[in-house]
Amino acid sequence: MYKEQLKDLIIEKYRTRTPLAYVRTFGCRQNESDSERIKGILKETGFDFTDNPENSDIIIYNTCAVRENAELKVFGILGEVKHIKEKNPDLIVVLCGCMTGQKHIVEKIKKTYKQVDIVFGTGALNEFPRLLCELLHEKRFVCDTNEYTDDFSCRTDVVRNSTYKADVPIMYGCNNFCTYCIVPYVRGRERSRPSAEILEEVRSLAEKGYKEIMLLGQNVNSYGKGLDENIDFPTLLRKINGIDGDFRVRFMSSHPKNATRELIDAICECDKVCKHFHLPVQSGSDEILTAMNRNYSASDYLSIVEYAREKIPDFSFSTDIIVGFPNETEEDFQKTLDIMKKVKFDSVFSFIYSKRTGTKAALIDDKISDKEKSERMGRLLALQREISTEHYKRFIGRTLTVLAEEENTEKGLITGKSDEFIIVEFKADSSFLGQFVKVRITGAHNWALTGEIL
Ligand code: SAH
Ligand code: SF4
Ligand code: F3S
Repeated sequence: MYKEQLKDLIIEKYRTRTPLAYVRTFGCRQNESDSERIKGILKETGFDFTDNPENSDIIIYNTCAVRENAELKVFGILGEVKHIKEKNPDLIVVLCGCMTGQKHIVEKIKKTYKQVDIVFGTGALNEFPRLLCELLHEKRFVCDTNEYTDDFSCRTDVVRNSTYKADVPIMYGCNNFCTYCIVPYVRGRERSRPSAEILEEVRSLAEKGYKEIMLLGQNVNSYGKGLDENIDFPTLLRKINGIDGDFRVRFMSSHPKNATRELIDAICECDKVCKHFHLPVQSGSDEILTAMNRNYSASDYLSIVEYAREKIPDFSFSTDIIVGFPNETEEDFQKTLDIMKKVKFDSVFSFIYSKRTGTKAALIDDKISDKEKSERMGRLLALQREISTEHYKRFIGRTLTVLAEEENTEKGLITGKSDEFIIVEFKADSSFLGQFVKVRITGAHNWALTGEIL
């Protein structure tokens, strides 16, 4: 209803001209996926898109709150937008995403950043057309950070960033309350999407020729809870695997406490599902894992890895690690390095702990200095470089299936990812983009494999 009203208002305001939207996303794939849906709403109601904020009629910042850096970046950019708005007072500035789930941030925006016209929360995507109508009618600041439960804006059109890779949200929110993490506060409780809707979306993507489907959620392993149907994540994977088409399936993120043997069995059985598991370990120390409220031990984690590799020796694992959780000792940190050596992750995304107001860990009196934390981070990165280089060598002489994703025209090279989520670089031209290619691996570096197209 509001979309129709908005369409009319847009025509009235911009007359014969098509207004331009600039959408910038901070944060994770979930946020990227939300942005694709926000773009869908904008397109449906008469906007086109630009990469230049200075040319735009509406600017949308979809923000992230996971670490302080992410927030500081947004505040810096809002300062710059002030100047753009001075030149173009008609410009509409919208702030949405995870930062807006924190009351103190919304207060700060209202008070200090008058250049912002609309603020809405991650659960209010469907409300965006209404909020824009209100602004255009009343020309005053509009804010809606209510936690809506019917936030499956998946039902709107989606303007996808890629023509061959597609993200499909299967659940929203998180119930885990890891003590360092702001996500459960800003994205609310877990809500799963009905399987019929997900299967329909994947089917239609496969028909359109999409080659890679990424199933998204903060903890996809707990998919299905609270739905009327009796379904869990392994069953969903099997159903998706049954859809016709030449595509592969990935999923992100998983929680080790819900990573069951049954899930590993399903991954191994489903030919379309990549034999790669992004399974954030966060730390190798049981004391720190307990303080983080992660509900598994280092040996639980290792037994999942072992089980997977008994079935498929090359099963690839990647992970997230937090360095410098409050009062993490040198001994705790050594245990993290130990688990990295044992698992031999193909990639590690590591972050220095960032204190988030409102979380439990923020209350701990942290005795470890920033200098110590950065020094540990340096050691962790050096170790991972060594592990990747060594571990990637297992692929030399073998043939991997790679989805060709990016072109370096200067060097005549294409890069893409293997099933194992490893970057592979090879000589080819742009006609291969968006296709699966067989690449024989000839070299291993700490960041990628190199090879020749067969
Ligand atoms: N739900 C996902 C992703 C959460 S955010 C999961 O549980 O895996 C992605 C990563 O950011 C986390 O895995 C964690 O490693 C990191 N992270 C979260 N909060 C953080 C904080 N306060 N400081 C530093 N890193 C953090
Ligand atoms: Fe944050 Fe933990 Fe939930 Fe992941 S599982 S989003 S780290 S609270
Ligand atoms: Fe950031 Fe929100 Fe994702 S806090 S990491 S954008 S869920």
